[in-house]
Amino acid sequence: MQLHKTKTAFITGIAGQDGAYLAAFLLDKGYHVHGLIRWDSTLCPQDGLARLDALGLVDEGITLHMGDLCDAQNITRLIAEIKPDEIYNLGAMSHVQVSFQTPASTFDINTKGTLHILEAVRLLGMAGNVKIYQASSSEMFGSSAPPQNEDTKFEPCSPYGVAKLASYWLCKTYRDSYGIFVANGILFNHESPLRGEDFVTQKIVQNVVEIEQGRAEPLMLGNLDALRDWGHAKDYVRGMWMMLQHESADDFVLATGQAHSVRSFVEKAFTFTGREIVWQGHGVNEVGHDKRTGQILVRIDAQFFRPKEVDYLLGDAGKARRVLGWRPENGLDALVADMMNAARGLRKEATKQEQIWLRQVG
Ligand code: NAP
Ligand code: GDD
Repeated sequence: MQLHKTKTAFITGIAGQDGAYLAAFLLDKGYHVHGLIRWDSTLCPQDGLARLDALGLVDEGITLHMGDLCDAQNITRLIAEIKPDEIYNLGAMSHVQVSFQTPASTFDINTKGTLHILEAVRLLGMAGNVKIYQASSSEMFGSSAPPQNEDTKFEPCSPYGVAKLASYWLCKTYRDSYGIFVANGILFNHESPLRGEDFVTQKIVQNVVEIEQGRAEPLMLGNLDALRDWGHAKDYVRGMWMMLQHESADDFVLATGQAHSVRSFVEKAFTFTGREIVWQGHGVNEVGHDKRTGQILVRIDAQFFRPKEVDYLLGDAGKARRVLGWRPENGLDALVADMMNAARGLRKEATKQEQIWLRQVG
């Protein structure tokens, strides 16, 4: 009988959306899973570890290590101790608009953090023993015309995009210079019930559910006409793992090949609650009405406009399909349904908790 060694994975950003799904995926495959977690995230375990908890992973044998991508010694020591077969570098300041307000720390985390991992692997003499996945982003394409694939010119439009592009080039440089197995996954937007509430899909879903349950205030948004290629995070973490199982290190786009506007996402989410939207007006004065009741459901707030916008992201994942056999299993309608159902369930649970609390204090 042939015995297979149990593989060990180290995930930075394990408490994030992708980190939680990837941890679940790898545990299911029998991996030992180690994750990097920031001290701040442990201050309020209900919040910091909420995603791992939602997937039932907190007591599932994941080993969490306190640390920070900005701390080179910490990262080097952890890699030396854990001796991972695979490193998934998902940790990042991942919000594009916030990166305009915090460009320097965005670079510290998203670029220097990656460098700390690459240097650790090189200096520890682990170049031949470990495979690295780098969470690159379609935001690196910026204003390049769609459809975008691995050969498209990069024209990033935000500090986030530039920082991710610098990491992308560092990974290629370490691959070519030192023979380290590093794969850049150039992932288009992917969402899920675990998506952070500041990203547009989750913001829409949470607001639509609150409006469905009686809230009078409308959903406030920025640019309704941006086009994104939205997939489901579950499909994308499978693609990350497939990149590291490939015989050679390479770069791959993961995308659905379908783009939709923010406006269209809003319409789909309201349709899910039986409401049809009628749009009126232009620019910051545009509003979305409920066709039947006239209630204003959506308004524009200029604070959500970005200094520079990426207008149109549409991915061509042909290479990942041909070389890795990767295909997304969820389309946009399935994604909206998954997020809406989860938000309704959570909202119901939250309302129950509020009522219990009100009874106690009242
Ligand atoms: P996310 O939910 O925002 O998770 C990011 C994680 O990074 C969080 O757990 C955060 O920790 C951690 N982190 C932040 N700063 C850190 C630091 N200094 N040291 C260590 N960890 C740190 O992001 P995601 O959606 O899962 O995305 C995963 C990765 O893929 C990110 O690198 C993102 O930029 C990239 N990406 C995402 C998409 C997408 O559509 N989701 C597309 C392309 C690329 P806390 O929990 O403590 O805040
Ligand atoms: N967040 C947000 N909030 N975005 C809004 C809003 C709003 O109120 N109103 C309109 N938008 C528009 C943004 O201007 C953008 O064009 C689009 O909705 C999507 O915004 P986000 O959901 O914040 O995602 P993103 O595309 O900027 O970045 C995400 O995808 C990248 C991959 O392309 C993030 O996950 C990045 O980490 C990831 O790399």
